[in-house]
Amino acid sequence: MKPTDYYSEGALPLADILSSLSYALDLTSGYSSGHAQRTCLIGLRIASVIGLAQSQLSSLYHALLMKDAGCSSNAARMAEIFGADDIAVKRSMRTTNWSNTMEAMRTAAGNVLPGGSPIARLKKLLEMTSHREEISDGLTETRCDRGAQIALQIGLGEEAALIVRHLDEHWDGHGSPYHLKADAIPILARVACLAQTMDVFFTAYGVDAAYDVILRRRGTWFDPDLVRAAARFQTDYKFWASLAANPTDMLSNLEMRAALDDASEERIDAICSAFAGIVDAKSPFTAEHSSRVRDYAVQIASQMGIMGRRLTLLRRAAQLHDLGKLGVPNSILDKPGKPTPHEWAVIREHPGNSYRILAGIRGFARLAEIAGAHHERLDGHGYHRGVGAEELDLDMRILAAADVFDALSAKRPYRDALPLVTVYEIMDKDAGAALDPECIAALKSVYPTELTDGTRQEPQVLAA
Ligand SMILES: [Fe+2]
Ligand SMILES: [Fe+2]
Repeated sequence: MKPTDYYSEGALPLADILSSLSYALDLTSGYSSGHAQRTCLIGLRIASVIGLAQSQLSSLYHALLMKDAGCSSNAARMAEIFGADDIAVKRSMRTTNWSNTMEAMRTAAGNVLPGGSPIARLKKLLEMTSHREEISDGLTETRCDRGAQIALQIGLGEEAALIVRHLDEHWDGHGSPYHLKADAIPILARVACLAQTMDVFFTAYGVDAAYDVILRRRGTWFDPDLVRAAARFQTDYKFWASLAANPTDMLSNLEMRAALDDASEERIDAICSAFAGIVDAKSPFTAEHSSRVRDYAVQIASQMGIMGRRLTLLRRAAQLHDLGKLGVPNSILDKPGKPTPHEWAVIREHPGNSYRILAGIRGFARLAEIAGAHHERLDGHGYHRGVGAEELDLDMRILAAADVFDALSAKRPYRDALPLVTVYEIMDKDAGAALDPECIAALKSVYPTELTDGTRQEPQVLAA
């Protein structure tokens, strides 16, 4: 068993935590890996040309890393509207000029109901066409408003929240969702809108393509003055090469970082809660899963005498354990049937993604280990590493038991919530092979099937 390495002492910069977690947001929003970081760097470069106050730079820095925090909130709706993989649809939308009706319809036609009959696809497309603006505004509003709320929840401030809320507004008023025009759009949101598009085209097609698109959309999507400002660093090839090679290091080495906040313990808790909410918002069937698993893990651990810093760490790992699920399309998560072998392979990737994202945060190594092991089994037949009992320490076993307990006691896409008695029958069958019997025993003490008055306790009581 590995030694327990709790947080390294010393302050954790807020920017570093958000920078690593932004990879989870890239996963769910159909952007390429590192998009939020690169957008942040491009946005700050534009800001340095136009000259902004330090406080504005800080807001821009944090907002650009968290700009897609609301993206998971419209994922289920996106999958339902298109009858398709929400992440794939979002990915193909990124290079589309969706203000142009013909171009938007072409992209929609290419994505709607894959594998469906031509008639079914046409019917779905016509349905979408008749409500195009309403659908677009609805999806963007969900994303931007939820994102802005999350920015406030983790204490990034009003200015950062405004950037996130107005990220998709366009200079000519044809953006979304509020159709703000020109100077009515906050200047930092205009910078953000320009920077995110530049990164999409830069990453997909190169620097020239990024500048082609912003010149073509100057005065429609983008503030012409900002396009002029961006042109000032078009030939800074060192900047573009570093951006492609290692945006994480570029962000860490920025001079302005010295002026950014460190993350207090309260702030880290707020970030963990916010990201648990982002994960849970992805699917109606996993709503509040992360927060319930947090409660169950803490209750089992407390029952077993775990406390203090170790308990804090386990609580945070429980909140973030399914972070990697942000990369699983809703067409799989919300499927009302058994997953196909391919879909199952996609699902099995999620604990590894949780681990990789969390391990990228300095001081989160232990938290990443616990979270990444939540689908491992004592007999070594779990995933993603397939390690056995000797590598699964108590904290990992507690989280695995808490996760299974919630998976069984909550309603799933393919079945109703199971009665508590059945939940324990299933868990008992797996005791020793998958789950630690002592963790199950601790759960039973916290949630006995029979209450002292002789009545039976059921899952809805637990979820309340
Ligand atoms: Fe999971
Ligand atoms: Fe889970």
